[in-house]
Amino acid sequence: MLRPFFLLIFLLNLAASALTAVEYTKNDFPPGFIFGSGTSAYQVEGAANEDGRTPSIWDTFAHAGNVLGNGDIACDEYHKYKEDVKLMAKTGLDAYRFSISWSRLIPNGRGPVNPKGLQYYNNLINELISYGIQPHVTLHHSDLPQALEDEYGGWINRMIVKDFTAYADVCFREFGDRVSYWTTVNEPNGFVMIGYDFGIGPPKRCSSSFNNCSRGNSSTEPYMAVHHLLLAHASVAGLYKKNYQDKQHGYIGLSIFSFGAFPLTNSKEDAIATQRYFDFLIGWVANPLVYGDYPKIMKQNAGSRLPAFTDHESQQIKGSADFIGVINYYTVYIKDNPSSLKQKHRDWSADTATKFFFKQDTAASSNEPLSLQIVLEYFKQVYGNPPIYIHENGLATPRNSSLEDISRVEYLHAYIGIVLDTVRNGSNTRGYFVWSFLDVFELLDGYKSSYGLYYVDRDDPDLKRYPKLSAHWYSQFLKGRSVRSDEVFSLEKNISSLSYDLDSQ
Ligand SMILES: *[C@@H]1O[C@H](CO)[C@@H](O)[C@H](O)[C@H]1NC(C)=O
Ligand SMILES: *[C@@H]1O[C@H](CO)[C@@H](O)[C@H](O)[C@H]1NC(C)=O
Ligand SMILES: *[C@@H]1O[C@H](CO)[C@@H](O)[C@H](O)[C@H]1NC(C)=O
Ligand SMILES: *[C@@H]1O[C@H](CO)[C@@H](O)[C@H](O)[C@H]1NC(C)=O
Ligand SMILES: *[C@@H]1O[C@H](CO)[C@@H](O)[C@H](O)[C@H]1NC(C)=O
Repeated sequence: MLRPFFLLIFLLNLAASALTAVEYTKNDFPPGFIFGSGTSAYQVEGAANEDGRTPSIWDTFAHAGNVLGNGDIACDEYHKYKEDVKLMAKTGLDAYRFSISWSRLIPNGRGPVNPKGLQYYNNLINELISYGIQPHVTLHHSDLPQALEDEYGGWINRMIVKDFTAYADVCFREFGDRVSYWTTVNEPNGFVMIGYDFGIGPPKRCSSSFNNCSRGNSSTEPYMAVHHLLLAHASVAGLYKKNYQDKQHGYIGLSIFSFGAFPLTNSKEDAIATQRYFDFLIGWVANPLVYGDYPKIMKQNAGSRLPAFTDHESQQIKGSADFIGVINYYTVYIKDNPSSLKQKHRDWSADTATKFFFKQDTAASSNEPLSLQIVLEYFKQVYGNPPIYIHENGLATPRNSSLEDISRVEYLHAYIGIVLDTVRNGSNTRGYFVWSFLDVFELLDGYKSSYGLYYVDRDDPDLKRYPKLSAHWYSQFLKGRSVRSDEVFSLEKNISSLSYDLDSQ
């Protein structure tokens, strides 16, 4: 296969090509390309203990003091969805990406549907549709019902496949007449890495030496959890295709967490290490979806800790995603690190036999738009150019910093420009969602930093939303205005020179 040399060739090409659309409009994108923004249930809804909702693993994690704050109130979208949808319409979003709280819809994860939960999601979906905004719905966004975690260990137990499929069935049956874009699982790889390997996210399982987790095994459980997440995805996608897709005409996929990875040095070892890192990071999920099995190098390095697919499972998974959601924020630099394979108790990171580094300069230079380009090109060239939605991309800033978030405007301008470049170069990317619409409760950072286009004043009992400069900028772009990089940079000098107004058309 030519894969090990993909990066070398890619980097040479990059050097030779003119980069980044500096001035563009929404109309430069192909017809039907959608632009939106996203949130997820626990991060935005609040009303955590209302109307029959029961805790998820994320509630438990946050309430154990693992992060600053919790999602009890969050942005209170549960009560303020009408206001928020109005704001989305005013901003000009084509689509809103949100997730369903499993334990709100089916408290305890299994059994009867909660009518209040059903009502809420019906209301939200209907409200979006009344403004012409497409709902893009995720079924699992790090918030497994705690009841199932307690009962059988959640994602490390194969029993989860049946319960997840039953939950999805309810969602398709109840909402599928109005929802055309379903994502089964949000970033199985990212969820598992933080939740089962490093132990810094829900359900906080890891080897005790890692992060004082009270249970878990970083050597084995990350692989088991992803395996079950993939089987659950395949089961749900199979159900959708068999019972719903003909009638409802929708699409089903899942999202994958990615870094844009570059070799740290020019050495051949680092180039090969970078390829290996991509196999472990992206291939872990994408290879089964496209080729029906894990990458060879993963099987080699993880050995029997990596579960195997039966032929039947392999067939079920292969081709089960109509689209892939890409989640991308950062660039990392990869160094070959063969000695990690000598460790006795290896986790996923050690199995990659690499070390990775963030470039810790300014926000702008550590978040290079090339990050997204390299990932989109990678899907195009290695995975047969599947339809892609960029499910998350955005920039974190301290939560209560200025509404004049110039760094976020620069980031979005550069990244959306690079998306245009890759689409022009043949990438089958069909949509882009800014993370996040509001300043939500963040997974690792709580309320310390945020990505929102809108600031939410948490000191105000009414949790008033305020547009940041980035909301104005994105809105103008969505309404067809031409955006230029020199204009973005001049913002730094004269913020009032732009009459960005949400109400102007
Ligand atoms: C554009 O696409 C071609 C064909 O897939 C590829 O060889 C080239 O590396 C791409 N260019 C960039 C800048 O990614
Ligand atoms: C993790 O599981 C493996 C395989 O069962 C075992 O060899 C290892 O000792 C376990 N590690 C921990 C920290 O429990
Ligand atoms: C575990 O907790 C102890 C005491 O709180 C702390 O000193 C230690 O650094 C922690 N270990 C890890 C690996 O986080
Ligand atoms: C942000 O919050 C921190 C801590 O709550 C405070 O010290 C700081 O002054 C705040 N900054 C702004 C710009 O409000
Ligand atoms: C800033 O922009 C406004 C509106 O275009 C203009 O009236 C003003 O003179 C500019 N100020 C500076 C210092 O360039």
